[in-house]
Amino acid sequence: MLLRPEDKAGFLTDWSGDWTGDAVAVARPGSVREVQACVDICRRHGIAIVPQGGNSGLVGGAFPPASGRAMVIVSLSRLNAIRRADAANATLDLDAGCTLQTARDAADAIGLQFPLALGAQGSCQVGGNAATNAGGVNVLRFGMARDLILGLEAVLPDGSLWSAMRGLRKDNRGYDLKQLFIGSEGTLGIVTGLCLRLHPKPATIETAYLGVGSIADAMAISALARGDLSELVTAFEIIGTECLPLARLIDDAMMAPVSSAFPVHVLIELSCGRRMDGRALLEGFLADMIAQGLVGDAVVAQSQAQARRFWAIREGLVEGQARRGYHVRSDVSVRLGDVPAFVTAARAFAARDWPDWMPQVYGHAGDGNIHFNLLPPADMPRAQAQAHGRRITDGLFAIVEAFHGSISAEHGIGRARTEAFWAGLGAVERRTMRAVKDALDPQDLMNPGCLIPAGKEQA
Ligand code: FAD
Ligand code: LAC
Ligand code: ZN
Repeated sequence: MLLRPEDKAGFLTDWSGDWTGDAVAVARPGSVREVQACVDICRRHGIAIVPQGGNSGLVGGAFPPASGRAMVIVSLSRLNAIRRADAANATLDLDAGCTLQTARDAADAIGLQFPLALGAQGSCQVGGNAATNAGGVNVLRFGMARDLILGLEAVLPDGSLWSAMRGLRKDNRGYDLKQLFIGSEGTLGIVTGLCLRLHPKPATIETAYLGVGSIADAMAISALARGDLSELVTAFEIIGTECLPLARLIDDAMMAPVSSAFPVHVLIELSCGRRMDGRALLEGFLADMIAQGLVGDAVVAQSQAQARRFWAIREGLVEGQARRGYHVRSDVSVRLGDVPAFVTAARAFAARDWPDWMPQVYGHAGDGNIHFNLLPPADMPRAQAQAHGRRITDGLFAIVEAFHGSISAEHGIGRARTEAFWAGLGAVERRTMRAVKDALDPQDLMNPGCLIPAGKEQA
């Protein structure tokens, strides 16, 4: 249990520097029984609990607000054992505090893969991935965290342990309650264990980096790839070339393999559990795309090292944004066919109302998930940028709503989006969400103010 300010400090600020919180204590239980004991003590004293995983979340869900109700952070970082790697069942049982990288390595060690992949995988925890229903770059093929979790165990707000860790692929016994905890962002209980669904390890991986003329062309390529390369496509990411200077903030030698005169770059990856000539397949597809005028230039990686350099551009731009400082960050989705019109509308809004801000467009375009971010003028004081940022976000969300899209495709609601999320729900949706929360957590002990606004009057 950490009580001194200097010991708690590392748990009270986030990766982006956007969030600082306060907690009366940081508890670091080393066993499921200790998690139960923490919950029990907090429940008896009416102290709220904020579960914290790897602290890589981007919407402030793991931070107790600096003022208000007394809260304790329960960090899962010491609950980090692999429980059982079962190659025959293609599953991995593990504690929720294992990092995603640990899970991926443990799967690899038994000749399989756990395909959830995201920039923060060295620090985020599988419990956090479950709590946020994380997405990442392989959703196109393997789905979100929800699709990769076969079993879950959680300590409920009354201190009891709920467990469904049988690891069955088919199980129709009543409500599938684990789905409630997936994406619940710490508001219904503390996830302590997971059974992860593993997939065959790819024997073939091919990666190409493309220069294309527009988002519309990128989306046309994505649709054709789904037909032509079918389920072999594991990733289809776009990088607006305005983002490249951000990647160079991390490594000034970083060079895109195609000209930055193309407004949009695309990273496409295909993979297969079987050894096959994926390169010929990919090259054939790209030759077709060039013939149709959809691809301007393309480089197929000749080695895994070269492929990693392509991916370093995609990962570097995210790091570069954080290094530059405060920026408007979004994580939205629209129907696949609406992606080009959405980006055009969002860019037009930015150019008209916020001409000094620089849009940065990138993301998991194959899933219709765009990170439409904006950088403030370099000399704008942070407080002013944050105030403008809130108005920009409101404007952006109005456009998302006009497209019947989602204001959170993968990062979750946290504290950053609670108000907008709740305002966008109809009365029946609110009532149902509130009923679930009240049934499991009548005292509003678990992560109050995150996802569901504190106070019943807002229901
Ligand atoms: P935390 O940040 O610690 O917590 C997130 C939320 O989950 C909080 O509400 C917290 O209370 C709750 N929580 C955490 N652990 C538990 C638990 N055991 N039980 C109950 N509740 C819990 N996300 C994506 O979806 N796709 C991406 O591509 C992606 N890329 C990223 C790249 C970078 C560089 C960074 C910094 C972040 C990225 N993220 C991405 C966001 C983040 O990594 C994910 O949301 C991740 O799933 C959070 O896991 P965590 O363990 O860090 O959770
Ligand atoms: C990404 C994170 C920011 O896609 O979601 O890089
Ligand atoms: Zn993302």
